[in-house]
Amino acid sequence: MTKKTIFETAMDAVKSTGFTVKQSVVALLSFVISAGAFLSGEHLLAHTLAGRLQLFLLFFVLTIFFTGRRLNLPGRRRRTEAEVILLSTLSGAYFVAVFFIRDIKLFDGFMPVSIALPTALVVMLVSISMDDRLGMIMALLLPTGALISGSIDVYAFIMAAASSTSGALSLRRARRRMDMVLAGAVIAVVNVITVISIMLMQNCPFKFYPFITFWAVVNGLASGMLVLGVLPMIENALHLATTFRLIELLDTGAPILRKLENSAPGTYSHSMMVAALAETACNEIGAKALLARVGAYYHDIGKIDHPEYFVENQKIYNKHNELNPRLSATIIRSHVKLGIEKARAIGLPTEVISFIAEHHGNSLIKWFYNAALEKEGQVDREDFCYPGTPPHSRESAVVMLADVTEAATRTLEKPTVARLEKFIDDLFRDKYEHGQLAESALTFRDMETIKSSFVRVLVGFYHSRIEYPKLSKPGTTVNN
Ligand SMILES: [Fe+2]
Ligand SMILES: [Fe+2]
Repeated sequence: MTKKTIFETAMDAVKSTGFTVKQSVVALLSFVISAGAFLSGEHLLAHTLAGRLQLFLLFFVLTIFFTGRRLNLPGRRRRTEAEVILLSTLSGAYFVAVFFIRDIKLFDGFMPVSIALPTALVVMLVSISMDDRLGMIMALLLPTGALISGSIDVYAFIMAAASSTSGALSLRRARRRMDMVLAGAVIAVVNVITVISIMLMQNCPFKFYPFITFWAVVNGLASGMLVLGVLPMIENALHLATTFRLIELLDTGAPILRKLENSAPGTYSHSMMVAALAETACNEIGAKALLARVGAYYHDIGKIDHPEYFVENQKIYNKHNELNPRLSATIIRSHVKLGIEKARAIGLPTEVISFIAEHHGNSLIKWFYNAALEKEGQVDREDFCYPGTPPHSRESAVVMLADVTEAATRTLEKPTVARLEKFIDDLFRDKYEHGQLAESALTFRDMETIKSSFVRVLVGFYHSRIEYPKLSKPGTTVNN
């Protein structure tokens, strides 16, 4: 057995954390910057330095533990590259700011120095661009880091923790960008209450009250305004799918959706139906319904250029009748790649693009595969598989199931509730048995919930087409 080089050993260690190499490099850089801020300072004695170093390492390990892969609950996706980059950059920048306020003493030392720190700003950015649970963790981790670095005292810690926690909490239900300004106002109120409590505890001279309270208000309001200003830049630079960005993407007046509706009306109505199915099911299994809806809207945009080759847009004539099965499969397969290209060109968030890449997984295009087998005798299976990857999130898996269900149930003749249930059951089993759901973290219980949710939505939608079993008593009719 060959001996591993240090590089290979390091790479193995990186892989075992669940981070990619790029994520690890950024996290390491942030580590070095934060360590510099933590460990620098004048007149540090060896044992002070050793103590601080030990605390810093403990703090860093805890941060990775809470914010890295281990934070992901079952059913949650891994942190994306953009998220790790954002998290590391914000944490690094925060500790640089912590370093600069180290020796500041304002109003005879009665003003908590954390008023000069953008703790709430960083926490709000994390809450919005990733998730509020992570925001809450950061709301405690950042002030704790600042406290153990020796740059702030316990009063400043309380101030920073109170203001950032209120920032994370006040954004929990934020749906409009203006909600960030409101969150700033909430932080300002919490800041004022906290700072007055601290001044009372410290027996602060009354003359400082108005000034310190004023800066506490400024800190809160500025946090809200800055988030409002900074967030669009982060969204664009890192292609993040924040709630605000997703709500904007729901606008069916967007040029790409208009184009889809005009050139491929069948695909457009299919996408809207997939969205309705996926959104309801995601709500019921506790997944991100808004993300699933947006993913469904855009999942088939790759069909815009050649809509006539897809069955939902064919009225009478099937274009594939005149093509050989291999060429047909190539055209069908290509809508995934074309979709990804279009999505990138219009700057869709990475998470939304993954719906395009994953909605067919790497499944086989059976019809044309069988036709080619019959014609050519022997064919390469790979040539007839979609060029994507199986879903990596519950939302993406739900869209895959909604997609196949919507497309297949259109052709179902004389549907009854029982027939619909059996039909959907078979479609789900097929996806499961072919490994398309293996990476998605959907549980069997989720699958059952999704199934009954789909049946309910479809029964409602195809109400007029559903055949209900005849009731035994003559004269009684079903009229719901
Ligand atoms: Fe598709
Ligand atoms: Fe589709």
